[in-house]
Amino acid sequence: MVVAEPGMTVEIRRRSARESDERLREIAIAAKAHWGYPRERVIEWASKGDFSAETLGQLEIWVAEAGRNIAGWASLAPGDEVAWLEDLWVDPRWMRQGVGSALFAAVANESRRRGAVRMEWEAEPDAIGFYRRMGGRDLRDSPTTEWGRVLRIMGVDLRG
Ligand SMILES: CC(C)(COP(=O)(O)OP(=O)(O)OC[C@H]1O[C@@H](n2cnc3c(N)ncnc32)[C@H](O)[C@@H]1OP(=O)(O)O)[C@@H](O)C(=O)NCCC(=O)NCCS
Repeated sequence: MVVAEPGMTVEIRRRSARESDERLREIAIAAKAHWGYPRERVIEWASKGDFSAETLGQLEIWVAEAGRNIAGWASLAPGDEVAWLEDLWVDPRWMRQGVGSALFAAVANESRRRGAVRMEWEAEPDAIGFYRRMGGRDLRDSPTTEWGRVLRIMGVDLRG
């Protein structure tokens, strides 16, 4: 999928060997810190394993390529009937320019193509407005807590 931005084309494609784990982690840290969490805490959070080679190796990853840069990325965890959106991170320099919605659409379309009936994710509270714009609805509380809060599981119906 391609979205056109002033003076720049952003292409959504599968991750290639050119995008290092470190680069993906950097984008996630910058995106998370954009919500105002203390950077040291974000770096500590990012070092806990979610972005290790082992964890990333188990995911299917899509990147948004803007020129020679990666503007954001998204990942799907293995799933059948219900797809699980594990990651969605946009470089703050690229936020509010359609990159997040293009990545979201790419993973939702791929999940639908494979026969999933719904895609779910654990929603960062600051991103709930974005997810509502994507058609997401509240499903249940997450069993895990992050940063001392109960997070919400949201989902989008992929049928029809
Ligand atoms: C949430 C995030 C992925 C959105 O990406 P983005 O590229 O800025 O989103 P888009 O530009 O595609 O926005 C799509 C629509 O959602 C709206 N939107 C974007 N972020 C929003 C927010 N935080 N709150 C409310 N609406 C938002 C946009 O205004 C746009 O609306 P429009 O279609 O009416 O113009 C991005 O802000 C991000 O990476 N945040 C930090 C990391 C994070 O929280 N990730 C989610 C982890 S669960």
